[in-house]
Amino acid sequence: MPDAEPSCASPTALGAPTVTHLHGGHTPPESDGYPTDLVQPGARRDYVFPLEQRAATLWYHDHRMDYTGPQVWRGLAGFFLVGDEEESALPLPSGERDVPLMICDRSFAADGTMPYPARDGGPGAREAFMGGVLGDVILVNGAPWPRLGVDRARYRLRLLNGSNARTYELALPPGGTLTQIGSDGGLLAAPRTLERVRLAPGERADVVVDFAAYRVGDHVELRNLLEEGAQARVMRFTVERDARDDSAIPKTLSRVEPLDPAKATVTRDFQFTSGDLHGHTGWMINGKPFDARRVDAKPRLGDIEIWRLTSDVAHPVHLHLAGFQVLSVGGERPSGPPEWKDTVELREAQTVEIITRFTGYRGRYVLHCHNLEHEDMAMMSTFEVV
Ligand code: C2O
Ligand code: CU
Ligand code: CU
Repeated sequence: MPDAEPSCASPTALGAPTVTHLHGGHTPPESDGYPTDLVQPGARRDYVFPLEQRAATLWYHDHRMDYTGPQVWRGLAGFFLVGDEEESALPLPSGERDVPLMICDRSFAADGTMPYPARDGGPGAREAFMGGVLGDVILVNGAPWPRLGVDRARYRLRLLNGSNARTYELALPPGGTLTQIGSDGGLLAAPRTLERVRLAPGERADVVVDFAAYRVGDHVELRNLLEEGAQARVMRFTVERDARDDSAIPKTLSRVEPLDPAKATVTRDFQFTSGDLHGHTGWMINGKPFDARRVDAKPRLGDIEIWRLTSDVAHPVHLHLAGFQVLSVGGERPSGPPEWKDTVELREAQTVEIITRFTGYRGRYVLHCHNLEHEDMAMMSTFEVV
């Protein structure tokens, strides 16, 4: 090593431009990782994250325009956990029993490399991968189908779908329950018991699993119900010992104030569909490909707005800067109290209405599909808070 500089102050040694984005961060625009704010190889840039926001399971990843898919595929992604006093006052499982799990899929060549099916001579993936790049091996925190030894006690699992394009429905063996306590934007108002947790790319769910429901020696497999065979396997817990457990799941976790649709100043429409991108198929928002010189919406600082998102095929839609609440899915109000999200899955031919409030910072941010191949093939739009 040539010098003793801390790595955080060193210029990037990567052979490609990068952009760092804190997903779910309430971040000033200069530090939000706008897709053209490139850090060139050998250069450095300081990002400032004030983190004036609730405790939440965030993550960071590359956001380089046109090349986010391949760069995240190669590993430029990680967890970023935000805590606060409200959360640390709760008796939730913590320390060794608070386990972040980043789930993604990759395919490997015989020599162990992870080739990415890039389109010749341009950004995006080859035509056959228009729908998104899927891998046939499921990785958790970078390891294929790993195993974790656990106590007979409650664990908090912070589940993140860090995949380029794959959606999961995660479940324990029949009879096993997952108690969800948190979502993209932090704690739910109250816990909810689920048999399965569905996560589209970019989404997070914090769940508690009580391994005291099993016996020492039991293997408990976390599975993906959307697949059979290898892609159904995610990871395995082995119950290793009896242990003392002082944790609990309180009946009330937090307060989530509902945003009032009557207070919205405007409703905007965003259509997520395929379209022609310089002679090949790409992905558009309101019929237009991403263009960093164009601003598609100008919400005012402090305003509440309703955004109506409509899909052709499924698209996980992510909004920078502002967390939101889901008002309706296919015309129906979601069951249960509101929760803070930053990414929402539009299923095929569906309309989802979200309500949000733009606070904190003026400037340019993006709205985009979090299927990274769709994003790279132009399914992104700029809004400017004014
Ligand atoms: Cu997770 Cu705009 O990104
Ligand atoms: Cu983001
Ligand atoms: Cu999409």
